[in-house]
Amino acid sequence: MRFVRALHTPSLTFPIIPPNGRPPGNLSALMSLPDLRAYADHFAKCGYDEELLSAVGEPLQSGFMKRSRVEWPEETSESARTLLSLFALFLPQSEAALQQALAPLSLDPLLEAGLVQRDGDHVLALRSIVPFHGRWVVCDPFPFAEQPIPTDYVLPPSNGTRIAAWTTVFRSGGVAWDLGTGQGAQAVQLAAEGMQVIASDITDRALQSAKLTASLNGQPQIEWRQGSFLEPFGDETADVIVSNPPFVITTGQGIPGLSAQSGADSGSDSGPDSAVEQLARELPLRLRPGGWMTMLASWYQDDEKDWTARPRAWLKDSGCNCWIVLLSQTEPARFAEEMRSLPGNGDFDPVAWAQLIRELKMKQICYGLILCQKAEGPGWFRCEAIPALTLRQAHQGQIERVFANTQQMYSGLSAQQSLKRHFRRVEDIQILRKGPQAQIQHQNGFALPINCSPGLAEAILKWSPDKWPAEILGPFIPSQDEQKALMGLLFRNGYLELV
Ligand SMILES: C[S@@+](CC[C@H](N)C(=O)[O-])C[C@H]1O[C@@H](n2cnc3c(N)ncnc32)[C@H](O)[C@@H]1O
Repeated sequence: MRFVRALHTPSLTFPIIPPNGRPPGNLSALMSLPDLRAYADHFAKCGYDEELLSAVGEPLQSGFMKRSRVEWPEETSESARTLLSLFALFLPQSEAALQQALAPLSLDPLLEAGLVQRDGDHVLALRSIVPFHGRWVVCDPFPFAEQPIPTDYVLPPSNGTRIAAWTTVFRSGGVAWDLGTGQGAQAVQLAAEGMQVIASDITDRALQSAKLTASLNGQPQIEWRQGSFLEPFGDETADVIVSNPPFVITTGQGIPGLSAQSGADSGSDSGPDSAVEQLARELPLRLRPGGWMTMLASWYQDDEKDWTARPRAWLKDSGCNCWIVLLSQTEPARFAEEMRSLPGNGDFDPVAWAQLIRELKMKQICYGLILCQKAEGPGWFRCEAIPALTLRQAHQGQIERVFANTQQMYSGLSAQQSLKRHFRRVEDIQILRKGPQAQIQHQNGFALPINCSPGLAEAILKWSPDKWPAEILGPFIPSQDEQKALMGLLFRNGYLELV
């Protein structure tokens, strides 16, 4: 892609949050929504897509935008420029240009839905509409400015949104909850997978955004409920629960300008990660037999225990098999520094932080993923550090396989037996060459790489279910103990399944 700087905006700094500190528009008055599906199809046809958005605006992992100048790839259509400028960059567009970009669709349903408003001969966006994960989500604009972010600010999709979306296991026809739906990205994915979705959020503004997201994606049947955490669900249960909850660790007073005000704040008087703790303790209890939960989480590790100790304690009576994945860790003082440097966080209180670090003996701030499946037996824990960047695509099959294989190992598939059983290799494995060494890894889902010799990597790729493992591995690793160890690794990490 070649880039050209926008001619008319040579030194544009993104404006975004308007001076009153809050994007305009009150959607709670919205009674019924027009069907907006045709608009999503049209945006995609014009080339306003995720690739263009990241080329132009480069949304950061945290959902913030980095660039302060617009540089358009040369082949960008005029319509895509207009739509992205209006809906992602929040730049007013002339009505004539917008009509042209939307043709043959009309502007009226967007006005009626409260997504845009006229301002003289220009049109302003009241909400962002951004491409995400092959769909469209309605949210508040990416924050750039130093202004405080309003309490009910609806975050754009972030890396956490993507991780939750990629690691959710679906059960078509079952009941799914999206707790803390925000812009509704998880809810529409669950609905598209054939689930009966109930999505909740504490703010009315989030639910209104999510409804618009659902309308754009042709999923009007989702049920929306407002309330805090489990309150809107009474004593109901679900087959699938997804939550990208307010997980940012805070001092309890919240981080001025960001967390407490954006609904991302996990801290309260009960602790800096209390929202995550509450949900990790309560949500798995609501799973139906065989049900799945995906939850993003952040917690602190104290200096006397390892990183798994606190989430394990929360989940120990969950009745679930639990895979706790540590995606990243940050030293608390550095975490505080990162929080302080976020837009709008000028009031961040380093003294309160330092005190909290001391009091709780915080050693690391952990960010991770909790995956649970309701167990038939006593349940097990599998805890490992897997860098977030090695998660590359959605792959529910991998998660289900890792759970199934871990279950087999817990139910007695010993290392000894692993050489006396037949296995089949799973499809999407690739070999990476690293000088004289090789690495096998999964193409989708978590890469879960294993280093080995190039010859062994080829042999694993050509795995035949008719052969005994020793026949395949023996020419490269003669020792039986090493063969067993490798079989354990291949099976545990989902490269093989039992025939
Ligand atoms: C990190 S955002 C996640 C949004 C979206 N689900 C995603 O994956 O990007 C967290 C959401 O939780 C909502 N929230 C915060 N506190 C809540 C509470 N006590 N009960 C329910 N939702 C809450 C916020 O309003 C926000 O929309």
